[in-house]
Amino acid sequence: MTAQFPAARPRRLRRTSPMRRMTAGTRLHPAELVLPMFVKEGIDEPHPIGSMPGVFQHTRDSLRKAAHEAAEAGVGGLILFGVPAVKDARGSAGDDPDGIVQQGVADLVAEVGDAMVVMTDTCLDEFTDHGHCGVLTAGGEVDNDATLERYAAVAVAQARAGSQVIAPSGMMDGQVAAIRAALDADGFEQVPVLAYSAKYASALYGPFREAAECAPRFGDRNAYQQDPAGPVGEALREVRLDLAEGADAVMVKPALFYLDILRQVRDEVDVPVAAYQVSGEYAMIEAAAANGWIDRDRAIMESLVAIRRAGADLILTYWATEAARRLR
Ligand code: PBG
Repeated sequence: MTAQFPAARPRRLRRTSPMRRMTAGTRLHPAELVLPMFVKEGIDEPHPIGSMPGVFQHTRDSLRKAAHEAAEAGVGGLILFGVPAVKDARGSAGDDPDGIVQQGVADLVAEVGDAMVVMTDTCLDEFTDHGHCGVLTAGGEVDNDATLERYAAVAVAQARAGSQVIAPSGMMDGQVAAIRAALDADGFEQVPVLAYSAKYASALYGPFREAAECAPRFGDRNAYQQDPAGPVGEALREVRLDLAEGADAVMVKPALFYLDILRQVRDEVDVPVAAYQVSGEYAMIEAAAANGWIDRDRAIMESLVAIRRAGADLILTYWATEAARRLR
């Protein structure tokens, strides 16, 4: 009896590095990476973020420098978050023309605005003293419609400061329509809206809340962000509504725990789809690598390939500059 040798040999295509390179179905490019950045008002030195080794709350100067490095690496875009010196119940710093995000955006546009896309996250949690993403009712709930007016004002202030993409992340109903109308009324009909459409109430935002100093002082975000166990169609419903309201691109967030959602959204729409590899995803890989438990560089690139393969056109990642350098 002779041994049965296989006729089909998929390994033929995996045997050499040039063969694998030539047949790769998923490629990453620096231009599709977006770097989230934090700028803090009133500090003289960049502050390291304990739960995100390698990520900083920037001064206005160090922000420019880091943006310049990202541009040199070929990163496609930046998205800015701000930590104001003073917070109040309505998040006044968010639409203050001299607010830290407005100052930071103007700096970024001056530094790299011709080479990469400078975006702003549009929300209130960084600016409110209670840490919620909207203004509150007397009973302490987030007031959807009163919040829309605040988002509209924040978006216009960001656009006036030079923001090239407005990215609402608060998960209020009707936020894209409210922001689109306000931008158009103020002469910014050419500024696109990238909607955080399917954003889940995730445990993976913890390190970000240290970075942006925006953990809610009471309660949680479960009444406005999506339930991880919620109806599967909910993400698609949010996406469709955002597109009907005028969104130019949509986002799924977090990324790695939601690759199924990302794939469904990618298959449903014909606009660019972004995925946000959030702070907790970053922290998990960095922490395991720091313990010597996984190969850091390989894990980073594998995670980015997975997100790309699931259907993301754009990836927001704190590793954007490093990954872009490796891809060149
Ligand atoms: C809300 C916002 C959050 C993130 C981006 N925009 C925090 C939240 O919803 O609590 C999280 C991003 C990350 O974890 O990296 N403005």
